[in-house]
Amino acid sequence: MKKNLVIAIDGYSSCGKSTLAKALAKKLGFIYVDSGAMYRAVTLYFLRNNIDVSDDAAVIDALQHIELNFHSRDYESHITLNGEEVSDEIRLMPVSQNVSEVSAHKIVRHEMVKQQQRMGKSKSIVMDGRDIGTTVFPHSPLKFFMTADPKIRAERRFKELESKGNNQTTLEEVFENLAHRDYADTTRKESPLVRADDAIILDNTNLTQEEQLNFAIGKVEPLMAG
Ligand code: DC
Repeated sequence: MKKNLVIAIDGYSSCGKSTLAKALAKKLGFIYVDSGAMYRAVTLYFLRNNIDVSDDAAVIDALQHIELNFHSRDYESHITLNGEEVSDEIRLMPVSQNVSEVSAHKIVRHEMVKQQQRMGKSKSIVMDGRDIGTTVFPHSPLKFFMTADPKIRAERRFKELESKGNNQTTLEEVFENLAHRDYADTTRKESPLVRADDAIILDNTNLTQEEQLNFAIGKVEPLMAG
């Protein structure tokens, strides 16, 4: 087996990347890294501190005051922002509605990519996001690009929010937010969401979680053996 294997999973918002990434990490004993959580935590900091994203100096200064850490418990990824657990808060609408703008910022991306690359240096990881296979780990030997029907994605995300007790957001708002983020992610100047040429497409519209995991494991096994 290669010393540090990095599995890259990219794709649209809420199309099951993190579910597959967590399941794969658990099965393989790898570390799961949710790169979107990093952009979300930075967005939360910017919102709390009224950082103007169009002010580069303010962005640079703010990034110097942000420390992000992951704590893995039962393969659930928990993120802390300057020591405070923010895993739930970063999923709420205020962050979802502002994260596209923050994650499109060149300086923010540069800093996050640097931190993400560091995580894959010494350990085998599964990392999900938008630019993992294209920018963060372009040499990863195994990349997936996930898609799913937008309506199914909105319904899944809506149920997830509901299960966490968030009843203030409607299904329509979730659908609109996903459509907006897809558009922003695919059309931004800095590292837009695009399938890496060597990424394996996984459309999970009609696949169970078990089927997705089996599909992915089928692609990992030859690498582990080689
Ligand atoms: O994966 P997510 O939906 O939690 O990500 C939140 C936002 O962060 C998403 O709208 C796009 C951005 N993102 C990014 O630009 N690059 C990544 N590697 C991961 C997320």
